[in-house]
Amino acid sequence: MRTDTAQIVRLEDYRPSDFLIDKVELDVRLDATATRVTATLSLRPNPEGRSDAPLSLDGDELNLKSVTLDGRSLPAEEFEASPQSLVIAQPPQHPFTLTVETEINPTANTKLMGVYRSGGNYCTQCEAEGFRRITYFLDRPDVLAVYTTRIEADLDEAPVLLGNGNRVESGSVEGTNRHYAVWHDPHPKPSYLFALVGGKLGRVGKSFTTMSGRNVEIAVYVEPGKENRADYALDALERSMRWDEQVFGREYDLDVFNIVAVSDFNMGAMENKGLNIFNDKYVLASPETATDMDYAHIEAIIAHEYFHNWSGNRVTCRDWFQLCLKEGLTVFRDQEFSSDERSRPVDRIAEVKTLRARQFLEDSGPLAHPVRPSQYREINNFYTATVYEKGAEIVRMLKTIIGAEDFRRGMDLYFERCDGTAATVEDFLKAFADVTGRDLSHFSRWYEQAGTPRVTVKGHYDQSARIYRLDFTQSTQPTPGQATKEPMVIPIALGLVARDGSTIEATCERIDARGVFILDKASDSLIFTGVASPPVPSLLRGFSAPVKASLDLSNGDLLALLQYDSDAFNRWQAAQTVAMRLLVGASTGAAPSEEEIDALSSALHAFMEQSALQDPAFAALVLSLPSEADVAQEIGANVDPDAIHRARKELRRRIGEVCSDLLQHFHRSLAETGSYSPDAASAGRRALRNASLDLLAAANRDLGERLAREQFDSASNMTDRLASLNVLMTLSGEARETAIARFEDLYRHEPLVLDKWFTLQATIPEDGALDRVRRLMEHPAFSMGNPNRVRSLVGSFAMLNQVQFNRADGAGYDFLASIVLAVDAINPQLAARLLTAFSTWRMMNETRRSHAKKALLSVAEKPNLSRDVSDIVSRALEENKAS
Ligand code: TRP
Ligand code: ZN
Repeated sequence: MRTDTAQIVRLEDYRPSDFLIDKVELDVRLDATATRVTATLSLRPNPEGRSDAPLSLDGDELNLKSVTLDGRSLPAEEFEASPQSLVIAQPPQHPFTLTVETEINPTANTKLMGVYRSGGNYCTQCEAEGFRRITYFLDRPDVLAVYTTRIEADLDEAPVLLGNGNRVESGSVEGTNRHYAVWHDPHPKPSYLFALVGGKLGRVGKSFTTMSGRNVEIAVYVEPGKENRADYALDALERSMRWDEQVFGREYDLDVFNIVAVSDFNMGAMENKGLNIFNDKYVLASPETATDMDYAHIEAIIAHEYFHNWSGNRVTCRDWFQLCLKEGLTVFRDQEFSSDERSRPVDRIAEVKTLRARQFLEDSGPLAHPVRPSQYREINNFYTATVYEKGAEIVRMLKTIIGAEDFRRGMDLYFERCDGTAATVEDFLKAFADVTGRDLSHFSRWYEQAGTPRVTVKGHYDQSARIYRLDFTQSTQPTPGQATKEPMVIPIALGLVARDGSTIEATCERIDARGVFILDKASDSLIFTGVASPPVPSLLRGFSAPVKASLDLSNGDLLALLQYDSDAFNRWQAAQTVAMRLLVGASTGAAPSEEEIDALSSALHAFMEQSALQDPAFAALVLSLPSEADVAQEIGANVDPDAIHRARKELRRRIGEVCSDLLQHFHRSLAETGSYSPDAASAGRRALRNASLDLLAAANRDLGERLAREQFDSASNMTDRLASLNVLMTLSGEARETAIARFEDLYRHEPLVLDKWFTLQATIPEDGALDRVRRLMEHPAFSMGNPNRVRSLVGSFAMLNQVQFNRADGAGYDFLASIVLAVDAINPQLAARLLTAFSTWRMMNETRRSHAKKALLSVAEKPNLSRDVSDIVSRALEENKAS
């Protein structure tokens, strides 16, 4: 296989740009197939760059029409142009103006980067390197310019024209059916934050008064007729703006803030200055079409993109290696927002579930990389769970270590110092080092070292001395390119719990006032004195660090934690750990005894009887066992997905049986009465009710079917309807097919709802699922060009259907390989994402491994792969030299 080493970008090679661009004037004449872009750039040599350097502008599939330098049309011999670049060998050594005219074709743009069309509208996506698909530019995040954009379009085709910043002018073009708008953004920004939109759009909006009393018009634009589905997003935006003022002291800085929903989008959303563009899946919501989880995601992503206005836009990244500087920090901020708006413990559990399912998985496979990578071939492939989720965990640990007050002071200093600049991770850490006087150099290893540390803890109790000792060790597995690992700084929040629930008086001076011990060596011990009875340690409370913990606690100890721990996260964790042990045992030929299973089942019963209704959302999480993928990850090698599936089914059956009385009671008593509200408490009641239905059906097919049918018919919202359909999906034959057909009938004209329908069918864990997916690809609502459709059908099959994707005959792998190749010709970013489903192939058993390798090689051998796909496939196949 060809590895193009010339293409590798390295952090150590960073040097400032030789030229700077202070001002950009863009004139964009929108046209379906021939959009004209005239860019007037105010350039000057960078005093920090090389002198006498050529000017080399980035392009991507551009069609150059003309070049003018300081008003003089440049003759062909004075520059060199290709679709990929525009080079002027001898540019002026003083400030100058360059005007470049290009022509682009939005309709042919299926990569969804640059200017493209979605649902008949024009929109843009420039992060990371899409601006170079609009005009030739220094398309790197450390070149900050003030943009003025004139957008012109047909009045009928695009009555709404939006840009970054404030609208300063608009009107019609005399003698034509065209009109224009001029937008000016006074805040210097990198090109990746540029955006424009033109189209037919409905609007909902309101005024927002900032903390200093300024008025901001905030609005959400959606497909006309769907305005009422944008109310929740608008409300979430308003709450986000208020929260960022109250919690981080951050105020908005333009007169308008617009959000536009589009139906073809490569990711969740994009934080373009003053003009966020969203995948419509993360904007549109109504009780009839969106689930409680959809509402929660909308709220989180609206907040995320808004928070980028400070963490990302006002302070941006020096280079793409610093991506976590904006993404990790902004995820942390959106998580804090959701926790404040909803339930902190419940949200923390949800965060950790995704962290483990996605980031720990990535960190244990061939695509593992540090939160700040040191090299890349394709930056699009580094918008990963590691950069986002683990990046957020690092910020969280920092706050845990230095405390909330110093954290806020450090954030304030960071924003103050770095405002208007393109910063680095070092700048970020320095702000906290400076406000606390701490040396954070050891802590900064979290950015450099890949892999999930494992912390092993053993407890020793000495009754006569009334001493309890905890021995800690830490280690991290090798990852690609990093053979040896150093000890990390790991904040461990902990406490001691008595087996009977009574309080334990004990002292240990190495635990700070917030209950945190810092493990920063390969091994260390804690000594507690005055411990009157043998305690159960509650470790990593609130999941204080992104590590795997091995505890020498018995199932009995853990179930005592489920009952008595004051930390809700660890109550949940205790039940999960016990369930995981049982599932791993049952999947690997070490079947647990009936007593062990019953101990968990009755502990769950007791827990629910005592407290489920006090916090239904939390109870629903306790009832949801580790997923098949979680169990596979825990086993780690020679995995047999079929065995895991059987084990999980059996454990669920048993728990459902033991808890049947309570589950029926919850299902009955929590039935929806009033009108739907997406608030966390109402959602929590629905979650417990639906988790109950799910477990009941696992134990009793007939009862499950009857209740699910009734619920399907009577449901007044998508959460309940989908939950009942989910249960009906577990039944084979008639019942399932009828339900599938009825659902399709009801939502035939709702693409986002049909996505859910695609996903449910793609994840049926039975033979026949693959044929069904193939058949559904012919469905009129399916399209290979629409990322949401592809992800919900093919992506779900590959990522969520453990047994069918990892079929022993290799058909699941071959299927994915063929789809990846087909999608690569349309949308490389999307193809590369799908391909990451192969990141688990090395943990499978021998038969599956060899099939997966063959499928990967079939991709690798194809000529003309995109850089996106070739990067992922070569890393997935690479032997781990480190191990
Ligand atoms: N910066 C965006 C966010 O996390 C995500 C993003 C990066 C993106 N590249 C993209 C979105 C490409 C769409 C397409 O908020
Ligand atoms: Zn982001």
